[in-house]
Amino acid sequence: MQRFYTQLAQVLHTYTQVDPNLLTSLFEIPPDKSLGDIALPCFRFSKEWKKAPQAIAQEIASQVTHESLIERAVAQGPYVNFYLTRKIALTEVLDDVVQDRGVFTSNRGNSQTVAVDLSSPNIAKPFSMGHLRSTVIGTAISNLLASDGYNVLRINHLGDWGTQFGKIIVAYHAWGDPVLVQNNPITQLNALYVKFHEEALAHPELEDQARATFKRLEDGNEEDLALWRWMIDVSLAEFARMYTLLGTTFTHNLGESFYNDKMDAVVAELLQKNLLVTSDGAEVVMLDDISLPPCLIRRSDGATLYATRDLAAALYRHKELGASHLYYVVGNEQKLHFQQIFHVLSLLGYDFAASCYHIAFGMMRLDGRKMSTRKGQVVRLEDVVQEAISRARAIIEEKNPTLHDVEHVAQAIGVGAVIFNDLKTNRLHDIDFSLTNAVAFDGETGPYVQYTHARACSVLRKANVLQEDVSPSSMVTSWQNNHSDIDDPTWNLIKEISKASATRLRAIDEADPSLIAKHVLDVCQAFNYFYHECPILTAEAPVRALRLALTDATRVIIRASLVLLGLQHPAEI
Ligand code: ARG
Repeated sequence: MQRFYTQLAQVLHTYTQVDPNLLTSLFEIPPDKSLGDIALPCFRFSKEWKKAPQAIAQEIASQVTHESLIERAVAQGPYVNFYLTRKIALTEVLDDVVQDRGVFTSNRGNSQTVAVDLSSPNIAKPFSMGHLRSTVIGTAISNLLASDGYNVLRINHLGDWGTQFGKIIVAYHAWGDPVLVQNNPITQLNALYVKFHEEALAHPELEDQARATFKRLEDGNEEDLALWRWMIDVSLAEFARMYTLLGTTFTHNLGESFYNDKMDAVVAELLQKNLLVTSDGAEVVMLDDISLPPCLIRRSDGATLYATRDLAAALYRHKELGASHLYYVVGNEQKLHFQQIFHVLSLLGYDFAASCYHIAFGMMRLDGRKMSTRKGQVVRLEDVVQEAISRARAIIEEKNPTLHDVEHVAQAIGVGAVIFNDLKTNRLHDIDFSLTNAVAFDGETGPYVQYTHARACSVLRKANVLQEDVSPSSMVTSWQNNHSDIDDPTWNLIKEISKASATRLRAIDEADPSLIAKHVLDVCQAFNYFYHECPILTAEAPVRALRLALTDATRVIIRASLVLLGLQHPAEI
């Protein structure tokens, strides 16, 4: 209903002289549908007008007479409740959808470049639930920003550098089997890493070897580098399978090692601006001014760190890639790290530091368990996604035994279940992942939304009006001349659809895809209620036309929401 706030504010302004912007900010949606469509609380005017809010509500309600959009105004205690003229509102909402008046796209971004750092798993380590969340949330946020006219760079900041590679190389030489690693890279390399730690307990000299090996790597030893590159290749091939399943794409694959030759410049800049101090032999930037612990730039042995690479990466994204906004979709536990990075950037004098955002998220537990990488016992997320697909397949085969292309649909639904389950909750909250709940076709799930979309498609198919991207808006016109009443289920659905554009803008401003997920669930619920209450195909002509137009609008709204969230939208399930 936010869709109508501006119009209503203009009308009320003529009666009350109150600033339309103030009115718009005061409007609320009444908690109970029978109380009208939009409510104005009158407390705010009490002081200035020297009247009780109840009296003000009475006064406004009695002044407002029926005019186009407003059917009537009723005072209810300190509120004025407005009932909209359903017929007019309905036409406007359907036109919004057909003409995309801010529903699916907008252009606040005006081609500015945003770099979104997402997924960013570590080479030779399992793809964790945190990386899955980052991938899914990062993709949705990238899609949202792109819908608002931003030029979005999707950057995979792979963890492909650091002292652990010294350990893995030592372990590989001692116990590694090239064929095993090639066939099952992450599990095998991770097992070697775990074995290194076990063996190092009894043979501490292994630690020295690992340090020396990493030093050799840093100094550019070709043999070690070749092994390291191979490990990256085999790991990436395994990650790629996951990305293909999820439908994830990147514009840039730039691992941490990419910044190896770009860190001297960062250190030099910090020195030049007098920001580096020595503490316990290490070089750090003090962050006392904002009461944070120092940011570690260079260790006592000269090695650069995660933070140094992130500073180099931020400058690269800004200066070389032209990004004016930097988003980092990374778990809550790295909050301090990003506070430090952003503050160092502002100490360096970069204004874009104010447009750097840590898009944090909570933890996800798998069937109540935290995923553990200790002792090499790892739940492979790829297996979880595959399991979701096979459960989806079982449900589909039962529901619709004659469906073509079951494989494709099962994958769309299984993957959709995993993605939607992640995105439907505010990203900052911890969540429990239960495969059974996520794959259910009823409840607040991806399959439920996808199924509702397919249901709308099926109605349109039967009516013979399903043509991609063509909406039967003319149908409304024929209906309008004949009919006056709009029943509650129809009105209910129209109201949900009317929230699409405001919801999308808010989801972008708050970098919160769950707003889209919740909205599309509401649309689906409203559509299913409408579908059960109002016969579509068997209704008499003008009503049938209207209902089909509404069904089509619902279909495109659901589809657009699924696309934003990164889910597929099969037309038949
Ligand atoms: N590889 C890191 C990890 O798994 C995440 C990297 C996030 N991005 C960044 N620019 N620091 O913890």
